[in-house]
Amino acid sequence: MRQYIIAGNWKMNKTVSESVQLAKDIVEAVKDVKKTEVVIAPTYLAAAKVADVIKGTNVKLAIQDIHWKDQGAFTGKVSVDMVKEIGAEYIIIGHSEQRQYFHETDETVNLKVKKTLEAGIKPIICIGETLDERNGGKLEAVLSTQVKGAFKDISAEDAAKCVLAYEPVWAIGTGVVATDQQAQDTQAFVRSVVKEIYGEAVAEGMRIQYGGSMKPGNAAGLLDQKDIDGGLIGGAALKADTFKGIIDAAEAK
Ligand code: PGA
Repeated sequence: MRQYIIAGNWKMNKTVSESVQLAKDIVEAVKDVKKTEVVIAPTYLAAAKVADVIKGTNVKLAIQDIHWKDQGAFTGKVSVDMVKEIGAEYIIIGHSEQRQYFHETDETVNLKVKKTLEAGIKPIICIGETLDERNGGKLEAVLSTQVKGAFKDISAEDAAKCVLAYEPVWAIGTGVVATDQQAQDTQAFVRSVVKEIYGEAVAEGMRIQYGGSMKPGNAAGLLDQKDIDGGLIGGAALKADTFKGIIDAAEAK
């Protein structure tokens, strides 16, 4: 059985002191969580301090993005070695906000996935369609291109270490959540693309999160779906109690 993974993507929220406090609150809230993998992704600025707070607990650190180069003249960016040193276990790659606002492409996603895997860190690879793409009948083509692009020239062994996050762009931060059935149907399709590339074993083992306005009130229905193995949570991850509410829904399965 695939282990649920609930990851909080804090995006550009919380100062360093607020991040430390939220991390402490989350550590306290989830200390009895046994089955579900709990991950938080603070800003770069807060990551090292948050890492200290969660050290030795059942909360793991993710970083929101990296550059694929090792070092050098890339103002504003951080490298994989920097995030490795502070103990990051996951790196979020290809978030739709990166794709939309910061020129992320399937090629740069692929470079970042490779760099992350080389460092022994696990990528959380985000994919998802816009409303126009869905309404225009392009859903499957878009997702298939994103998945194949992300995994280009990556071995089955390495692919098996990755997590996918299906996040319909129209559901992110909008309060509009995909229906349980929409999310299930789409994620089953995403798994079929993984199967096409790597075969049954990798596809069945791969965890696929749902992301987009997931909240305590809708998490149970989404997590009930066969192909939904967790959540990538934005807004509801910014408070320990709402984040915990979603983790409780996973623990209850
Ligand atoms: P949301 O964001 O939960 O605020 O919709 C999800 C995400 O973008 O990861």
